[in-house]
Amino acid sequence: MSSLHVEPWAGKADTPEDTFLAVLRDMALRDGRALPRKLADEIERLPAARLPARPKRQPLVAQLEGLLSRAPQDVSALAGAVAAVQGRLHWEKSPANPKAGEFQHRHCFCTLTGPKRVIPSDRLQVGLFMIDGATFYPHHLHSADEVYLPLSGDAVCAVGSKGPRATKPGRFIQIPSWSGHAVWTGSRPILMVWAWLGDLAGGYRYGLPDADEA
Ligand SMILES: [Fe+2]
Repeated sequence: MSSLHVEPWAGKADTPEDTFLAVLRDMALRDGRALPRKLADEIERLPAARLPARPKRQPLVAQLEGLLSRAPQDVSALAGAVAAVQGRLHWEKSPANPKAGEFQHRHCFCTLTGPKRVIPSDRLQVGLFMIDGATFYPHHLHSADEVYLPLSGDAVCAVGSKGPRATKPGRFIQIPSWSGHAVWTGSRPILMVWAWLGDLAGGYRYGLPDADEA
């Protein structure tokens, strides 16, 4: 968005995806904890190549405008960057899995940077994630480190051995590699940024860690 004043990084293109990532990088640097800092570092390392956008919608995307309009002031720059890129996003659903339950039909996500995405990368995946209201995203775990950044909506998130905690728009949630995590949404949908860092290809499964992973 032209109203945003974010420092681009050297050699990067001027796409709406780049603006989104520049705002996200600045928020991650302000947070300063380990995984947001790692996210900022990985954004800085993204290559300069860009691929064409391939927009695709899912039914839940009809809720996106409302979610953005309710995003609090703290995240207004990032919500503005989402509004600017929304017509280019390729929304999809996770591969079908009987362990996903109702979640399978009540979520969608898109990926702005990652393998074969607009900003191609084999090291970093960043996207948006919507879960409908009154939905449980069952416990799952994966090799990649992950961060969530809620933008709008209410949810409770459990990570590892910590008890479930209410999410807060603008507050990063750190999910280390192979930590079990789950999300329960409130009466309305939630919109979050998600990012995978580190070992992207080492696996994903529903459930909780085995004893030797805990
Ligand atoms: Fe995850």
